[in-house]
Amino acid sequence: MTDSLTVRDNRTGAEYEIPIVDGTIKAADLGQIKLNDDEPGLATYDPGFVNTASCRSAITFIDGDKGILEYRGYPIEQLAEKSNFLEVAYLLIHGELPTKEQYENWVHEITFHTFVHENVKGFMQGFRYDAHPMGMLMASVGALSTFYPESSRISDPDNRHIQIVRMIAKMPTLGAWSFRHAQGKPYVYPDNELSYAENFLSMLFKMSETKYAGDPRIVKALDTLFILHADHEQNCSTNAVRSVGSSQVDPYSAVAAGIGALFGPLHGGANEAVLKMLRRIGTVENIPAFIEGVKNGEERLMGFGHRVYKNFDPRAKIIKKACDDVFEVTGVNPLLAVAKELEKIALEDEYFIKRKLYPNVDFYSGLIYEALEFPPEMFTVLFAIGRTPGWLAQWLELTQDKEQKIARPKQIYTGARTLDFVPAEERWA
Ligand code: CMC
Repeated sequence: MTDSLTVRDNRTGAEYEIPIVDGTIKAADLGQIKLNDDEPGLATYDPGFVNTASCRSAITFIDGDKGILEYRGYPIEQLAEKSNFLEVAYLLIHGELPTKEQYENWVHEITFHTFVHENVKGFMQGFRYDAHPMGMLMASVGALSTFYPESSRISDPDNRHIQIVRMIAKMPTLGAWSFRHAQGKPYVYPDNELSYAENFLSMLFKMSETKYAGDPRIVKALDTLFILHADHEQNCSTNAVRSVGSSQVDPYSAVAAGIGALFGPLHGGANEAVLKMLRRIGTVENIPAFIEGVKNGEERLMGFGHRVYKNFDPRAKIIKKACDDVFEVTGVNPLLAVAKELEKIALEDEYFIKRKLYPNVDFYSGLIYEALEFPPEMFTVLFAIGRTPGWLAQWLELTQDKEQKIARPKQIYTGARTLDFVPAEERWA
């Protein structure tokens, strides 16, 4: 067996041998296939990168058919059960689990960078009273590049490290302040005596009490949700981070681009859409009519389907369990019955079976977030906080990958050519 692909161009009869490495061919190798020397070579057309690898990566492994997700080789189920978010963040960024000393240093570093410059607070307060928190988060993260201009020195490892620490540390502060802003409540400063997730809850919900104390089950559930969202290889927002990062801009600008991508309803915005959908369906009796609408192409069953998972999304299983833990504290969300029945009906329906559509991570996460009293606009912010170590691990890998180039896809031009420009006075005469 030879690891190569023989291509015969039927336009010319010429044959080409193209090496196969790691189950891929280099798109650039197709460039030699030409009708004549004056023409550009053959290219691939792949909107949405459905079958194109954009990088080599050793961070996250997914087998979509088997429903496997691993960070640096560790199964998500084990990490969700036995680790915590900051340890997982360390693993993603550094590539291996920390020693006791490394872990303690890491937690200390992250904990003591949670505060932001007072001027950040100033400009956040300038947003409209009803500003979407995700828009505020995106702008604030982008603005951090102006507070840390040295972050543009991306080839310096120490400098990269401190920006990574800052971003993981400050994201909950910015996210919580975006939330308080819409509520007209004073921003709460970080409490560095609390764990990552509990400090976030404190900045979200603390009022006049001197110290915030979260229910440990809620703190654990939030920490688990952050772990589940921490990375997902080359998804839309990570691709945005890598694409923008490939211009060698600072990491704050690259991550702000990722936050923008995550804002969209087909990506991080899906759990907000799930909740709106469940509310619209309202009761179990209305489900069959809704499913008919989905099958007729009038709408989408939000929280179902995934570009990669064609069996089940392993994160959805863990979230379903976290739902039970949270509802034990908060009482059951009445929409849970609608969600469970909707899932049951969809999983038995030919339309969804044929297309391999299963519940994804967002199908149940919205219900948990609602039970925790987050308004739907905050759901994507929670996703962004969880995804930050993943974005940064991917960005770090990109900065050290000699094969990477500035992202610059080709296009198939379909517009007009060589028109003669007629000045406005003549056209309008
Ligand atoms: N409801 C109804 N039909 C669907 C759905 C859905 N949620 N998802 C896919 N389909 C159908 C689609 O219409 C198409 O049917 P046909 O072959 O007849 O044209 C077929 O399934 C394949 O769908 P696709 O749109 O080509 O698949 P994709 O890989 O491009 O899209 C997706 C993946 C996640 C964007 C899509 O499944 C979707 O829109 N789901 C709802 C939104 C959602 O839950 N997003 C969260 C994704 S998980 C969080 C994250 O990682 O961002």
